[in-house]
Amino acid sequence: MSERLLEVKHLQTSFFTDSGEVKAVNDISFNLDAGKVLGIVGESGSGKSVSAYSVMQILDYPGRIKGGSILLKGKDLTTFTSKEMEDIRGERISIIFQDPMTSLNPVFTIGNQIRESILLHTDRNKEEANKRAIELLDLVGINEPARRVKQYPYELSGGMRQRVMIAMALACEPDILIADEPTTALDVTIQGQILELIQDLQQEMGMAVIMITHDLGVIASMCDEIIVMYAGTICERGSADDIFYNPHHEYTKGLIRSIPTLRKEDERLVPIPGSPVDLLNMPPGCAFAARCPQAMEICLEERPGEIVVGPGHSAACWMNVKRFMEMSDPTRSVGATARKES
Ligand SMILES: Nc1ncnc2c1ncn2[C@@H]1O[C@H](COP(=O)(O)OP(=O)(O)O)[C@@H](O)[C@H]1O
Ligand SMILES: [Mg+2]
Repeated sequence: MSERLLEVKHLQTSFFTDSGEVKAVNDISFNLDAGKVLGIVGESGSGKSVSAYSVMQILDYPGRIKGGSILLKGKDLTTFTSKEMEDIRGERISIIFQDPMTSLNPVFTIGNQIRESILLHTDRNKEEANKRAIELLDLVGINEPARRVKQYPYELSGGMRQRVMIAMALACEPDILIADEPTTALDVTIQGQILELIQDLQQEMGMAVIMITHDLGVIASMCDEIIVMYAGTICERGSADDIFYNPHHEYTKGLIRSIPTLRKEDERLVPIPGSPVDLLNMPPGCAFAARCPQAMEICLEERPGEIVVGPGHSAACWMNVKRFMEMSDPTRSVGATARKES
């Protein structure tokens, strides 16, 4: 059997703050194979970035990986030294952040910044690095790359700056590219162009991509698998078709109802009511129970495990257990005390 490129097992990451432990990522597991695109979707604050930063080990203080393992080709990154992780970052795994302006250094030319990344991670000399920087700018669709390398970030538009960030992330041909809401700061047309670029590059270079977004509608078409996160947990995972057309978690259903582009003419856009759970005081049951229109007693008491509902498709929702039990014995009804929304 071929080795998995990335295997995240039971990852737990918390911020140990003065007010207590903020459980940002709460036992999540996922795999990524070479050349595949994994989407991670969820509202703001659901733990998407913290999951990515855990993989890269670039967590802000006081954040710390508390449990679980992150295997890159079988080697557990959580046991790596910071020096060893430096080599992993940029060479094996790269990340593109949401806002290119905060990640580009305003006082250096973009050529300088791309070259630096190349010099740091490869044995190319300065002249070769410059040539490569120009090639990379060309690759990410920046016109007149030989002139652009001499420009400063402020001389470029937002979309161009994000292209530069992508060029930097690709400088060493990583095995995995993590794109953390790479288009959120951009307007809609540019958003589409950048996503298309990432998809083209992914196919050309054969790297694996983790595409993180709060907007399911934007990325669905490019993902081999989608993970839906809520309050640091995984609610549901499956193909884009499973998630869109056959969702088995009430949170996923809510997310879909809140996507404007997917609405049918007569359907209203419905935001998910209620506010996110307090990560300092995680409830014992399902994290979404307090906002779930279908919640039963058990949902408040016990956290549901992931239940397989189809090939490659699972959901952590007690409703599925109830459904299965009712299917096998129609006289039985689990947790029949479904709460009514007042
Ligand atoms: N530096 C920090 N200190 C304390 N808590 C943090 C910090 N960064 C993130 N968190 C907590 O982790 C949660 C998940 O954050 P994040 O992964 O950034 O969410 P998102 O899904 O929007 O990317 C946040 O809701 C917050 O409670
Ligand atoms: Mg984020």
